[in-house]
Amino acid sequence: MKNVLVTGGAGFIGSNFVHYLLRTEKDIKLVNLDALTYAGNLESLADVADDPRYHFVQGNICDSETVDRVLREHQIDSIVHFAAESHVDRSILGPRQFVETNVMGTFTMLESARNYWIRDKALPLQNVRFHHVSTDEVFGSLAPNEPAWTEETPYAPNSPYAASKAASDHLVRSYGHTYGLPYTITNCSNNYGPYQFPEKLIPLIILNAVEGKPLPVYGDGQQIRDWLHVEDHCEAIHLVLRKGKTGETYNIGGENQPANLTIVETICDILDEINANSSNKPHRSLIQFVKDRPGHDRRYDMDTHKISSELGWSPRHTLTQGLLDTVQWYLSHLEWVSSIQQRQEYKGWLEANYKAR
Ligand code: NAD
Ligand code: TYD
Repeated sequence: MKNVLVTGGAGFIGSNFVHYLLRTEKDIKLVNLDALTYAGNLESLADVADDPRYHFVQGNICDSETVDRVLREHQIDSIVHFAAESHVDRSILGPRQFVETNVMGTFTMLESARNYWIRDKALPLQNVRFHHVSTDEVFGSLAPNEPAWTEETPYAPNSPYAASKAASDHLVRSYGHTYGLPYTITNCSNNYGPYQFPEKLIPLIILNAVEGKPLPVYGDGQQIRDWLHVEDHCEAIHLVLRKGKTGETYNIGGENQPANLTIVETICDILDEINANSSNKPHRSLIQFVKDRPGHDRRYDMDTHKISSELGWSPRHTLTQGLLDTVQWYLSHLEWVSSIQQRQEYKGWLEANYKAR
């Protein structure tokens, strides 16, 4: 792993991974290819912009000329593919972009990697890797007593987002099987932590609560996600890149499964404590149950036995500490937040998603 291409490195997990890798691997070149969509933010990477090991390319993963050029110019041996449309609610209101980016974008990345590594034999195949970052949402939804998903569980995606990710996973697998492209896939659960775009549940609730705005809880709030701290996720991906077997997929989960309402209430209680003089106390009074998400998955749970037994990974963060740290991170990065909140695109999104709920 000498010359690494990270796609979507200006997004939430991607920017955390860029920080993580530059901290952990001293002798690498890291190229970040990102289109800077609404979710991409170079302010998340301001502190590494001048690192001589780091290179930013603004470009679209659907543009094969750009991807081909980046692979050749930087002699890329490892691709860590994060770039995607990632918000389920947006996929419900506008699915087309999800098919374009998640399916066609991944296809384009695979074709370029195949041309460069296999057709042109640019690098020894045992030294290259296409790592694809996917989601637990490809598995669908669990009933209350069903066992957690393993790597063998058949896919049953329910939202356009999950279906587009499932399609991309299948493409990656097929390139391994058909063309011998060395790949790994990780399917992870809901991430949280620094630099998450404020449209997602945890930052949205923190920021609305601080501003005394309603806290929208979809349906009865008893839906269950498996919350994973983004640092734990980055560590797991790094381990898979270093020690994972090509052609394998690994589940990554946080081993925390509270109901959404519990997450929202916990954030309220944290804010009551650290903002003791806030006029919005008790913050729980801001909770509002709103119209449910169509097709809302009820419960997610990941069996992470494979990655823990084969690679020795397990999450380090507890949800209690992780949520407290995350609330404090947002409170101390209000400038980062407000530059997003002021954008017309973001205001339009809030209006489109919440006004009629
Ligand atoms: P994000 O939405 O915060 O960031 C996505 C990034 O990709 C942005 O920087 C955006 O500019 C970039 N991008 C989008 N379309 C692009 C294109 N066509 N070309 C180049 N760049 C493009 O996403 P995230 O939450 O960081 O998620 C990263 C990956 O992890 C995604 O593949 C997502 O499906 C997966 N994932 C996320 C979570 C989660 O909880 N956030 C959970 C499971 C899996
Ligand atoms: P989200 O952060 O959008 O992630 P995902 O849909 O990928 O799991 O949502 C997490 C959970 O929180 C999900 O069950 C939907 C719910 N939710 C709300 O109840 N209110 C909200 O305003 C949002 C954005 C999400």
